Amino acid sequence: MRRRLERDFERFKRELPRDFPSQVRETYGIDLAARYLGVDLPHPIGKGSGQLSLNAAQLEDDAAAGLAFAVLKTVIAEDETGAQTMAAWAIHETRMKVERRAAAGEGPGRAGWTVTWKGRGWDRSLAEYLALVRAGRDLARATGMQVVPSVKYHLPRLAEPFRDGEYRHTTRRLVEAWGEPPLLLEKDFSPTLAGDALSEDRAQIERWLREVPERIRQAAPVPVRVAVKLMNARFDDAFQLAMMDAVAGADALVCFNRLFDERLGVAYGGWDLSDRNLRVLDLYRLRPPSTASYRPLVGTGNICSGCMILDYARRGCESAQLHTFFQLPLSQYPATHGSRTQRALHALVFDPRDGLVAGILELEAQETLERRGGELHFLDLASDARRPR
Ligand SMILES: Cc1cc2nc3c(=O)[nH]c(=O)nc-3n(C[C@H](O)[C@H](O)[C@H](O)COP(=O)(O)O)c2cc1C
Repeated sequence: MRRRLERDFERFKRELPRDFPSQVRETYGIDLAARYLGVDLPHPIGKGSGQLSLNAAQLEDDAAAGLAFAVLKTVIAEDETGAQTMAAWAIHETRMKVERRAAAGEGPGRAGWTVTWKGRGWDRSLAEYLALVRAGRDLARATGMQVVPSVKYHLPRLAEPFRDGEYRHTTRRLVEAWGEPPLLLEKDFSPTLAGDALSEDRAQIERWLREVPERIRQAAPVPVRVAVKLMNARFDDAFQLAMMDAVAGADALVCFNRLFDERLGVAYGGWDLSDRNLRVLDLYRLRPPSTASYRPLVGTGNICSGCMILDYARRGCESAQLHTFFQLPLSQYPATHGSRTQRALHALVFDPRDGLVAGILELEAQETLERRGGELHFLDLASDARRPR
């Protein structure tokens, strides 16, 4: 199998077959099936919301490469008059810098990648966003790649009411644009929100998390499934768990958005991000089941290899959202041909050192994962993580 993997890795450098999950199943007896918001996916690799899901051309490349799902850039909610209470997030900024970032207190030996960018949410009109949603919907129907809008809605201070007008207007417009229910939607709690004065009060954050999923559902005349993308708040690990408990009304949790560097005033990723995320997910998994109001999990943060996807899966994540790894200089991918998405998928799945196939075979060798019906199932890792211990 190892020799076969070396060969596949080499030959797919020129062209990754779009239906690589079937090839992996037939050749290695590995079922890569995964899940996001209750939807079955052929494999766990999706694109997180951001600058790489801003237009139809990016989505077309992703669908052609065989990506499982793409979350659109976060739009800032507005009411029927066009007023946006979170307007500070709708700023225009194009310059991005992909650079190395060492983990805190460590030398460049363990430098990861980060994208430095001062921007925030969607900076064009809601009408333009709805056009992107419709293009995504058509592509989803034609190719099977899931496409999911992402929204930042009004978040009040403790003493204030929610602006339901924003929830109603934006959600309904998205429902109309998508057409066939249910609407799948992500609610973003971003690193810049974590760094904002609004997020200094823990009780205020917990209230948002308790109330927001239901407010979104109530705003729509049809069923809406809500994934909440949690921020890394500026508090301790125990508060990350408190946030996960508070948001029990969500249909899935995306864990966790980037860290916030207060000195530089920017969000960042790299090893500090995955170290923290995996540590908190470990705590969540190891708590006695009575205290865990368990929600399906999706991993995000410094996923630059298939083995890192498995690290998140072993802590309960049923799929993964990547951003930075889809944005590296071309020289960083082993593939010689194809779009960035294809080259990234090639490395994530077939790299014989740390790809998904190699990692899953290794877990079998360690007897961490067993074949059922002759196959190794990616989703068994997440269900094992949920088993009470
Ligand atoms: C330039 C940039 C813009 C982003 N914009 C958004 C956004 O609008 N909404 C959101 O939910 N996440 C956003 N993210 C977060 C990513 O979707 C992802 O969750 C995060 O970067 C961690 O994954 P990574 O380490 O693979 O990049 C952005 C990330 C980057 C690097």
